Amino acid sequence: MDAPVSSEVKNILGLQLPTDPRWVDLAAISIADILTDHAYCEQKAATTCISLIQRYPEKTLMVKELAPIVTEEWGHFRLVLQELEKRGEQLGRQRKDEYVNHLLNFQKKGGHPEDRFLDQLLTMAMIEARSCERFKRLSEGLQDEYLRKFYRRFMESEAGHYKLFIELAEHYIDKEKVRKRWAEWLEAESVIMQQLTVRGDRIH
Ligand SMILES: [Fe+2]
Ligand SMILES: [Fe+2]
Repeated sequence: MDAPVSSEVKNILGLQLPTDPRWVDLAAISIADILTDHAYCEQKAATTCISLIQRYPEKTLMVKELAPIVTEEWGHFRLVLQELEKRGEQLGRQRKDEYVNHLLNFQKKGGHPEDRFLDQLLTMAMIEARSCERFKRLSEGLQDEYLRKFYRRFMESEAGHYKLFIELAEHYIDKEKVRKRWAEWLEAESVIMQQLTVRGDRIH
């Protein structure tokens, strides 16, 4: 239950709680479902970046940095689609994403616009960090050598995205404020992780 997340991931990402190790086993036996959910998560990553650009066009640096991420996330979506196709599988229907819904509930909806902006960036950072951790688990825990490499690529890419969202937050908002709020996010996320039952259906 409480196998330690590698210190590397913990230090880089600050995640408080590792994914339950049983999750990789579940993932291994329902890879088509994993790929379908993963495909939608990549899609959502792309559309959320587009939404941020639409909401904050005056944030020039953010627009410039997120524009290529949209392409990259869409590229991820296409890679996952290809993988489904190779396996003779189709993209399934989108399922409710409880994890993301919980994170969205934690976002500040009122208050100062800067706080709302910060939370939107940190939500993305959080999702990227957890994705990275799960991809790492898959890249280390799956039997299939090809899939291990497949997920390693995603892991590296999402780690870069996590870093970018934190850097963007620090560019626009006082670093100390970002650090404090990020600590609150990490705490809230670990509670969410504890609340959610072990499921093999969420990785990005
Ligand atoms: Fe991605
Ligand atoms: Fe990403």
